[in-house]
Parts: sequence; structure tokens; C-alpha cells
Amino acid sequence: MNTTARTARIAVALDTSDWDEFCLWCRRFGPRVGVLKVGLEAFVRWGPAAVDEARNHGGRIFLDLKLHDIPNTVAGAVASARDLGADYLTVHAGGGARMLEAASEAAEDRVNILAVTVLTHMDSRSLGELGLTTDPERLAASWAQLAAQSGCAGAVCSPLEAAGLRRRLPEPFLLVTPGIRSSSRVAADDQRRTATVAEALDAGANLLVVGRPLTRAEDPDAALEELLAGS
Ligand code: C5P
Repeated sequence: MNTTARTARIAVALDTSDWDEFCLWCRRFGPRVGVLKVGLEAFVRWGPAAVDEARNHGGRIFLDLKLHDIPNTVAGAVASARDLGADYLTVHAGGGARMLEAASEAAEDRVNILAVTVLTHMDSRSLGELGLTTDPERLAASWAQLAAQSGCAGAVCSPLEAAGLRRRLPEPFLLVTPGIRSSSRVAADDQRRTATVAEALDAGANLLVVGRPLTRAEDPDAALEELLAGS
């Protein structure tokens, strides 16, 4: 895959509570990458204005709200996000089949519903505290399968789980992976398990979420180049 195609697969996470910084990142990254991701921090603070600002500078919009509620409420929120013009929207797979089906139906094929499987900060012990006696990898696999059966467009997973999921869930089901770094030597921040762009793409990921390595870089252009070159 050439550099232009790889760049189109990058979603920059615009996680900040400073509006000027948010706008700067939209201007800086919007024309350079395929997708801008508006997450909870920005959306809770500025609402639809954050989506409008991102859309004015970029291509596709990823609204990362990780919805989890009763099916009727989630369906209403999906309809609102759909009408805002979001291209991707996250919901929690843990909401169960009826919630995932309600989200998929409300999307009306206008917004891609992505089911978040097991958040990367959860390990076997924290799952056990919730009464879930399984390991994160196995749970992520069965929740991704449930998401596919419930009509979701894709799932969010660790890049290290992507290859296993891709074998069971062929395209067009989308796999979206955070935890991307230019090499295993650079700061992982709070991401437990990371992979490079090349590793995630080889594993079958369609969209790669990158935040701090780009937004906090002293030279963002160099950081993007380094990220794309990482093997
Ligand atoms: O690259 P960086 O670690 O800064 O990216 C963090 C982004 O990825 C955040 O927006 C976070 O919400 C998102 N994310 C994550 N782990 C998940 C799902 C999403 O880090 N399991």
C-alpha cells in the first residue's frame, strides 16, 4: 500500500479541551489524513460545533461517543449523529444484541456503526471484578462476532487482536484499531499494547486511530511521515 493510501486510513484523535488547539488540529490534520475523530472530551464541551469545525477542514468524521444505553435511547442518539453527518459512530458492544441492532437500524446506512469491544485498559482481573470470567481476547472476539451478526459496520479492537478477528470476520466488516505508534521504542502513553501502521494494516485493520503521537508532536509533518514509514 502506498503512502497516500496509508494516509487515508489514519484517523486523528482530536482530544483536547482547548478550542483554539482543536481548530489548529483540524486545520493541520484535516487536509492531510482521511478521518478526523471527535471524541467525548470535545463533544461534551462543544457539541455539534466541534463536528462542523472538523468537517470544514477534513474529509470524513468519526464521532467517538461510545454509546451504551437501552436500545430506544441509543437509536435516538444514532439518528442525531447520523443527521449531524458523522461517517463513523461508536457504541459499546457490551450493550448487547438488541442495542446493537437498534443502533444499526437507526444508522440507515448513512453512518458506519462501530462496536467497541473490550477497552484496552481492561485485563482478566478487571473483567473478573465485573463477573466476566474470560480473558479480554476471547471476549473481544465474541463481542465482535455479535456486532457483525447485529448489523454493525465494524468493530474497534486492539491492533494485536485484529489478525485473529479478520480471519473470522472478512471485509467489508471494518476493523478500527487505536494504539498505533511509529515503533515499539516510542512512548506508548497509556496504551498497553501497541503496533505500527504497517503491522496494523497487515493484520487487516481498515482505520487506524492516532492521537498523541501526532497532536503532541513538535513537528507534526515529520511525525506523520515517521508513523507512515514505520515497519
Ligand atoms: O494515540 P492515542 O493513544 O493518543 O489515542 C487515543 C485515542 O484512541 C483516544 O481518542 C481514545 O478514546 C481512543 N481509544 C483507545 N482505546 C480504545 C478505544 C479508543 O485508546 N480501546
